[in-house]
Amino acid sequence: MSTYLHSHQLHDRFQALDQFLTEHQSLWKPRPFTVLRLDWETEYPELAAHLRQCTLADAEADIDPQGLPAPFPQLAAEARQLSALGELPDNGLPAAGQRLNVAVPGRKWQQIEAFSRRLGFREQTRHWLDWCSGKGHLGRRLLQPGQQLTCLEYNPELVAAGQSLSDHHHLPATHVHQDVMAASSTLHLNHEKSVVALHACGELHVHLLRQASQQGCRHLAVAPCCYNRIPGEHYQPLSTAAQNSPLQLSMIDLGLPLNEAVTASTRVRHQRDCSMARRLGFDLLQREQRQCDQYLPTPSLPIAWLDKPFEQYCRELAELREVELRGNPDWAALEAAGWQRLAEVRNLERLRNLFRRPLELWLVLDRALFLEEQGYSVRLGTFCDYPLTPRNLLLLAERCR
Ligand SMILES: C[S@@+](CC[C@H](N)C(=O)[O-])C[C@H]1O[C@@H](n2cnc3c(N)ncnc32)[C@H](O)[C@@H]1O
Repeated sequence: MSTYLHSHQLHDRFQALDQFLTEHQSLWKPRPFTVLRLDWETEYPELAAHLRQCTLADAEADIDPQGLPAPFPQLAAEARQLSALGELPDNGLPAAGQRLNVAVPGRKWQQIEAFSRRLGFREQTRHWLDWCSGKGHLGRRLLQPGQQLTCLEYNPELVAAGQSLSDHHHLPATHVHQDVMAASSTLHLNHEKSVVALHACGELHVHLLRQASQQGCRHLAVAPCCYNRIPGEHYQPLSTAAQNSPLQLSMIDLGLPLNEAVTASTRVRHQRDCSMARRLGFDLLQREQRQCDQYLPTPSLPIAWLDKPFEQYCRELAELREVELRGNPDWAALEAAGWQRLAEVRNLERLRNLFRRPLELWLVLDRALFLEEQGYSVRLGTFCDYPLTPRNLLLLAERCR
């Protein structure tokens, strides 16, 4: 049974993950989608050959790694051990006010309830601050008699809808139209505040951690998401430990933990498969036509493009990317090759996917260690099961000096 991590355990886990991720960079950084042959295939020919002959259904099922050639099973076991993390304790939660969950999608409400149950802080909360609040459902769920709530959100419709919901329930809540990245957001951060952020994207929650710790907020509860939404091309580590790491992460690397499909329906998954098979078929065409063995990024396309015959799809995409088409391409063969490549890509990605959770934990531990350095006592664990949301990690920080 895994447990959640306390302050004194953060550093060792970070170092172990750092070593694992650094040592195996060549296995998870290159993307099978954009490279025809991966460098590691020379090192592990048996594994590569095995994965390349597996079907799309095999990749989907992602069956027991024990049956795959080395080093897959060993790496899978190590990744599992290094990313083991337990649930934060359930501190209970007073029953929700009447009809507070009206118009909140079921899943979102369950996430909010699960998140709210974990916030066992030693000191009393006086004033909740919901960072990137949307309509402020989380803040309203947390609000207890004697407390206040401020919600920061930059979408004016959500601000207005949130304020009218809070007014409807007669709650002492203020919904502020605020870009949290603007300097003025700091005015809302002070030692009176207990800040919550459920799924605030990359730089929005990183900015919160920097500003809130500087302003001395007493409590922070942050469930991060979208690690790849950062201002520059490369990740800027927050903690000293991560700054000293040899690991350099690009925006593309930061997308790895987000490559999951747990919530996609069968229809959406099929659409995604079609779209990727077509892109992979087009990729073969463009390499041949440009006489250049390099991936050419293509823009995201309206879903209706999947209804076009494959030849028309390729011709229009070639025009968009200014690739001149010559000769008589064998469209049927290219389309079939795209599907074949999709099966190979999905199976080769199984190796890369072993590093998803370790990388996510490395990133969240960087945030946790940073808060430690800023004088917080930190706990890190999950707040709900993975199927409810794959972004189920929660950082709890209490000011201790
Ligand atoms: C993924 S949603 C999470 C909303 C809410 N916390 C929840 O769990 O339902 C992110 C929210 O951040 C808001 N947002 C994005 N950028 C922002 C910014 N710069 N300042 C304030 N809010 C922002 C979006 O409008 C959106 O409501």
